[in-house]
Amino acid sequence: MNIVLIGFMGTGKSTIGRKLAAKLGMEFYDTDQDIEEVTGMTIPQLFKKHGEIRFRSEEAAAVKRAMRKDGRVIATGGGVVLNPDNVALLKQNSFMVCLTADKDTIYERVRRKKNRPLLHGDMQKNIERLLKEREPYYQVADIYIDTSACSVEEVEQQIIEAFKAGQER
Ligand code: S3P
Repeated sequence: MNIVLIGFMGTGKSTIGRKLAAKLGMEFYDTDQDIEEVTGMTIPQLFKKHGEIRFRSEEAAAVKRAMRKDGRVIATGGGVVLNPDNVALLKQNSFMVCLTADKDTIYERVRRKKNRPLLHGDMQKNIERLLKEREPYYQVADIYIDTSACSVEEVEQQIIEAFKAGQER
């Protein structure tokens, strides 16, 4: 069984995923990090040089690599759910957690960072637009956790409890 974290940018997937994996003694796998390692480029470089379509195809390949092994905590990029093939693969033998946050919290978390090409320009507007566009795509998880007002430890605890309860069923 893998634990897969999906959710919008800035909802805490990588931060929480890394800690959760350490706590559960599972391997941590981050699809964005994998893409950067495989392509030898940062995500912004990849978008700039080759565009979003190429990024999405690298992302689909990273999802395949992520799911090759069992017992992992897998953090994904916010747009991974846009491709139904990714969703189908990620849902196989996994517990899928969708992390959420309100738009102001997301903005506060991402505003000083320049590593998210899709938010370049008017960040607040872009966040609002993408959140709306993507809402239906995130409705594929086993549980949803709002991270806006929770500490990393609290979110971790909620995931662990739900994961264990799911396994006992
Ligand atoms: C993206 C989210 C990013 C990264 C890329 C595209 C998206 O990951 O994969 O910039 O489409 O939402 P995070 O969700 O980790 O920021």
